[in-house]
Amino acid sequence: MVNPKLPVIWYGGDYYPEQWDEETFERDIRMFKEAGINVVTLGVFSWSLIQPDENTYDFSFFEKVMDRLYKEGIYVCLATPTSAPPHWMTQKYPEILLTDVNGVKREKGGRQNFCPNSEKYRYFARNIAEKLAEHFKDHPALVLWHVNNEYLNYCYCDICRGKFQNWLKEKYGTLDELNRRWNTRFWSQTFTAWEEIPVPTTRSVLFWRKDRYQSVLPELYLDYRRFMTQSMLECFLEEYRAIKKHTPDIPVTTNLIAATFKEWNYFEWANHMDVAAWDNYPGYKEDFSVISLRHSLIRGLKEGKPFVLMEQSPSQACWRWYNPQKRPGEMRLWSYHALAHGAETLMFFQLRQSKGGVEKFHGAVITHVDSPNTRVFQEVKRVGEEIKSLSDILDTRVVSQTALLFDWESWWAMEDTLTPNIDFKYLNEAEKYFKALVKTGLGVDVVGKDQNFEGYRIIVAPALYMVDEELARKLKDYVSNGGILILTTMSGIVDEDDQVVLGGYPGYLRDLMGGYVEEIDALPPEEKNEILMFGKRYECSLVFDYIKTTTAEVLGRFGRDYYMNEPAVLRNRYGGGWVYYVGSSTSFDLVWDLVKFIEREHNLRAEIAPPDGVEVIKKVKGEKTFYFLFNHSHEPQIVDLPEGTFRDLIKGNLYEKKARLQPLDVLILLKE
Ligand code: GLA
Ligand code: ZN
Repeated sequence: MVNPKLPVIWYGGDYYPEQWDEETFERDIRMFKEAGINVVTLGVFSWSLIQPDENTYDFSFFEKVMDRLYKEGIYVCLATPTSAPPHWMTQKYPEILLTDVNGVKREKGGRQNFCPNSEKYRYFARNIAEKLAEHFKDHPALVLWHVNNEYLNYCYCDICRGKFQNWLKEKYGTLDELNRRWNTRFWSQTFTAWEEIPVPTTRSVLFWRKDRYQSVLPELYLDYRRFMTQSMLECFLEEYRAIKKHTPDIPVTTNLIAATFKEWNYFEWANHMDVAAWDNYPGYKEDFSVISLRHSLIRGLKEGKPFVLMEQSPSQACWRWYNPQKRPGEMRLWSYHALAHGAETLMFFQLRQSKGGVEKFHGAVITHVDSPNTRVFQEVKRVGEEIKSLSDILDTRVVSQTALLFDWESWWAMEDTLTPNIDFKYLNEAEKYFKALVKTGLGVDVVGKDQNFEGYRIIVAPALYMVDEELARKLKDYVSNGGILILTTMSGIVDEDDQVVLGGYPGYLRDLMGGYVEEIDALPPEEKNEILMFGKRYECSLVFDYIKTTTAEVLGRFGRDYYMNEPAVLRNRYGGGWVYYVGSSTSFDLVWDLVKFIEREHNLRAEIAPPDGVEVIKKVKGEKTFYFLFNHSHEPQIVDLPEGTFRDLIKGNLYEKKARLQPLDVLILLKE
């Protein structure tokens, strides 16, 4: 439960009464109640209102609002305003402002435009957080703290450079050590003084290639990403600690942007958040498994604990080039989808649609029509009504037989440097393998390399590019004890210093693979090869491992080119377990058939095998088992059920043997 003070599913979202008059506020309260809204997020971006100048604080506006909401039975998630520094502040203290990747210092305006290492910024942020906490600590409406809003940008200013150099000094001790571990004799990059070390901008070691920045000194960029993750996290912690002094019992979080967001290693963040929280904006026609991956990642950050869905749009977004409305039924489906994956709140951005400003076309519960008689409002109201009786699903835990090993450091290291194929991307591979596991119905978690691997029958670790000896040992233990591990091409190539492990790829994972990769061929995306396996031909592309086996058996072979008939897919017995290795970027078909093969070979069985377009999520609480069934497709679907009688918690219908799901519908089945 996010906060036992409010033991129901939280329903509400971001609200900006400061942009409206009192009469509108009163009308909104009536509509909130009609929609079943019980939590309102206040204060995001309110800095210039609550601290109009350096020495003045005025919380009276929000105090009145909170009193009024509480009187109506509505609770408050209170945000610190630190995402958008006010103009008076940046005018007087320009050091607060961020310098971008081109070395250009921002002047002002907008949000997420601050330098995470500016002591001035940190002072102001800590200070306003503390003042807010002090002021509202006893307010009965307060149930959650929301620090900042969607931490976003790296900074590359002189302050950051100085702190980065100190961070490196601390990490490496001496320049000799740094030079050695960064391999700086390459291209005459040897540093002779700490002050020579740049931040990675397009004026120093970064260059733009196709769709991203890469670095001529990847080791430096990698350390910068680690340093920036810690710098921004430290900003969060400054506020966190200030708040905790006054309200030790109220959970503190921040709404993480996009889940699979490259810039921040969220596993590090989650260690310091009381509860994980994120904002879910599914793309148009995006495969449901991709959204499942994002939810599962957020759930995985805190090893399965429930999380906060801080934002979703009730309908369209505004920041995409093209902003489709959520189709009728989609918001409801995505809402239950979040709950199934571990969310215990359904919060919208936003409750009332803006009248001015850059987001005026963004969807909202109360739209510009300003009435409850809209499609969107009615859909919100329907979900609000339904979830009132679903508090039983609070504190349930997802049970999964399989997991995806997700690793930011591999993502960074592999994509920040020149590799054989620029189109071979970490996230694409992760999504592809995750999708296959979702389709099995075995249930999939996402784990980080420092987390527990035990208990999973299958772990898939696509493109696990960076593997040090410790991670290799952990994976070996997992497999030795009977685990099944799926590895792919572009794995184990470098150690934690981003240096290649010699002796053939995948470095420390060679024993697990049962062979090694001698070289990696790479072709433009339109030039495919094929893999012959299970009596079929599968398309593969981008990268092609030239493999020598030692102990592995060969399951699939390449169909063309100078490595025709050479191994492409392997299986290796290791201790009590098995390792499968896929030496190319393959079509989804291959991954799917391989996973089905593994299921059969090793007697894995989903309790409910979902037909195409259906997702099954199993959750437990004590003795109770819940099956969430989703029909993500636009056709009705029939699902075979295990033995017994099941009751759908939403509509109360009973099911035996089979359940029929309407398009975009959901069932929450509890065994009778
Ligand atoms: C993000 C932010 C919100 C708002 C929405 C619009 O998620 O956190 O403040 O800008 O995007 O989609
Ligand atoms: Zn900076």
